[in-house]
Amino acid sequence: MKWTNADDVQSGRGDPSATDGGSPDEGGDDVHGAISNLLQDRELIVVSNRQPYSHEYEDGEVVVEPPAGGLTAAVDPLMQRLSGTWVAWGDGEADREVADEDGTVALPPGEESYRLQRVWLDEDDVEGYYRGYSNRVLWPVCHADLSKVDARPGDWETYEAVNQTFADAVIRRTPGDGIVWFHDYHFGRAPRLVRNARPEAFLAQFWHIPWPSWDVFRACPQAEAILDGLLANDLVGFHTDTDCRHFLEGVEVAGLGDVDRTSGSVLRDGQRTYVRSFPIGTDAAKWAERAGSDAADEFWAEFSEENGLTDRRMALGVERLDYTKGIERRLDALELLWEEEPDLQGDLTYVQKVSMSRQEIPAYAELRERVEGRVAEINDRFGTDDWQPIHYVDDHLPREALAALYREADVALVTPTRDGMNLVAKEFVAAQGADPGVLVLSELAGASEQLDAGSVVVNPYDVRAVADGVRHALTVPREEREDRMERLRTDVEGNDVYAWLSAQFRTIDRIRDSREATDELLT
Ligand code: G6P
Repeated sequence: MKWTNADDVQSGRGDPSATDGGSPDEGGDDVHGAISNLLQDRELIVVSNRQPYSHEYEDGEVVVEPPAGGLTAAVDPLMQRLSGTWVAWGDGEADREVADEDGTVALPPGEESYRLQRVWLDEDDVEGYYRGYSNRVLWPVCHADLSKVDARPGDWETYEAVNQTFADAVIRRTPGDGIVWFHDYHFGRAPRLVRNARPEAFLAQFWHIPWPSWDVFRACPQAEAILDGLLANDLVGFHTDTDCRHFLEGVEVAGLGDVDRTSGSVLRDGQRTYVRSFPIGTDAAKWAERAGSDAADEFWAEFSEENGLTDRRMALGVERLDYTKGIERRLDALELLWEEEPDLQGDLTYVQKVSMSRQEIPAYAELRERVEGRVAEINDRFGTDDWQPIHYVDDHLPREALAALYREADVALVTPTRDGMNLVAKEFVAAQGADPGVLVLSELAGASEQLDAGSVVVNPYDVRAVADGVRHALTVPREEREDRMERLRTDVEGNDVYAWLSAQFRTIDRIRDSREATDELLT
């Protein structure tokens, strides 16, 4: 066994995310290799709602779609290195056709270095667990938007049953000393259900969305059951220290365990759960590469020509169409700006890129209608024969195209009313070139805890403040823009997605080492 100072974990001093968060230069390969060394032969089981690869039909043929999200793209090569198992919802049309009778498929195609264990959900499961409890209760509660909470009868029971289905799949794949890494709010109960069957396994969970104060979280009808589920983990990770503080405070007020603030941990029924912040990052080097690619140049040449952007300034918003992203107030702010600064009419164009998800949930479908209505209204109000104020882009764009938009934007507007982190802010920074734009950032996004120094920070509820933020951003001289961007870049490059991965696995390793040391003392 390796010797480390158990106190490091106990006191929180050894928290790698706080003290020795990995070399900024560590690329993906190095980090994956280092994690592989840390885990030695222990099996890693990753659990997420979305799967890394899905199989679909295209012209009667089965095609495979590679990882789309930043997280799946970063964890996939790690899984290839470790030959672990990934457990996720098989929602692709052709997923069943390619899986074996157990629901597993070897990935990635052609290399087959790890296993994806697909979990099959029927329509009632999806409605109650995904469109129901996860996205009508936990999502709005955690984003502190209680008017959106819609706790329908039966959804909780389905959520718990689907968590049991995932837990069963995990238990089948997890040896006693395996390491299970759960992702997100879809799995508020699964750790407890796995723990009951695998007392010796190491369970960790990363919660990708905010954790609100207890006064907000208590609105969740099953607040205690969710806390109990998470406390079955050995390690729970959040993006920010504020999330960790809120979580510990909730556990304490709900009386679910002994909270030790010095070590940042909870003792419940003889089991200790460490609570740590691991601010997620983006693959900064990849975004810089995409922004400098020929594909980015080609996209921009065509897009700017088509949309009359060649000699105009551009403000940019990029997001999933979600009510937490602050899009409506941002549109109000832009309208106010064009109204108060007629010179900006014809000069500043706003590009709003959106991607759709959860459209079967009324709050999302209604938001879409309102946003599209407002865009049309503002375009009618200020548009002229040769200028359209807002370009609303809902097509899928390749990442190089997105990188081109980031690179060319004079101002990026990232103004969510609440966000766990917000990677768009970081992608924008990573894609900037010699003549950088300015980031207008919500103080209620997790990212503002790291990026406040170089950005223009605004309260996203305050329409006037957002309008003033954009107005100011447009006047920042080049030298100051470069200084600001340098500060942001240092953070974004130094705390990229690999540093995030690395910090968590080093924490897991330290906790395990400290436990082994304690066990040894006891025997
Ligand atoms: C957030 C969540 C993810 C989720 C993503 C897209 O980032 O933290 O878990 O996958 O939104 O939402 P969707 O419901 O389409 O998976």
